[in-house]
Amino acid sequence: MTDRYAVFGNPISHSKSPQIHMAFARQTGQDIAYEAIEAPAGGLKETIAAFTQSGGKGFNITVPFKLEALALATSRSRHAELAGATNCIKIEGGELLAENFDGVGIVRDIEINQDYPLAGRKVLLVGAGGASRGAILPILEAKPAALTIVNRTAAKALELKAAFASFGDIGACGYDDLAVEPFDLVINATSASLHGDMPPLRLENFAKGCLAYDMMYGKGMTPFLRFAGGSGAATLVDGVGMLVEQAAEAFAWWRGVRPGTAPVIAELTVPLT
Ligand code: ATR
Repeated sequence: MTDRYAVFGNPISHSKSPQIHMAFARQTGQDIAYEAIEAPAGGLKETIAAFTQSGGKGFNITVPFKLEALALATSRSRHAELAGATNCIKIEGGELLAENFDGVGIVRDIEINQDYPLAGRKVLLVGAGGASRGAILPILEAKPAALTIVNRTAAKALELKAAFASFGDIGACGYDDLAVEPFDLVINATSASLHGDMPPLRLENFAKGCLAYDMMYGKGMTPFLRFAGGSGAATLVDGVGMLVEQAAEAFAWWRGVRPGTAPVIAELTVPLT
């Protein structure tokens, strides 16, 4: 029998998750259906209940439901708990088991797909919203030499530093206080690219040969990546690999089979021009 999966969000028509998971299913010979379902504002609980009762096996959650879905889960992984959000739930015996693979997705994309191990690197994480929060623990687990969080609202960066203090040494500040020093990896986890904007970094923050990563995907050359390119950064990367890698983590967790991500990343890549 075909097992049902879905992604819940609002809006949801833009979601690439059905395309990604069906590509994984064809590749691995798994018999699944995967649909995009728009949950009404205030109606996530009912949407999940209906999906569970109809025999659904698991689902992804995207904006704006990642926090609410965590509260509705019956058990939460450490990554989901610390991210304060879930992007993936497995339904098992009526239980809703919550995970968060966003952070693992970006680390796998950087370390495996870009062949850029984080151990010993100086990392600058730009932004202190949900996207940034989800990446912190997986980044620390990869043992960078240092992790600095910079944010427009410095207090939010300091809050994240405090929340993750037991997992590693983190620097946190606003842009005015960011040292004029180079980082090996600069990750843009702000939503500035959405508005054609970029965080106020300095060219000196990009080490020669560094990796500049914009979590935004499918927008081509964002202002952040363009700026980073002008600094002499060696590699410019957008978030398409992170998107596909988090999906692969979910697929492997649900189905017990790890799909190959390279062909799916290639299918979804929008050239950086
Ligand atoms: P998400 O869940 O996608 O991270 P969010 O929680 O709204 O979204 O966080 C957005 C992040 O982008 C925040 O760090 C925000 O900075 P503030 O905390 O100071 O609001 C940052 N951001 C948004 N637009 C920005 C801009 N134009 N320049 C710099 N930072 C920006």
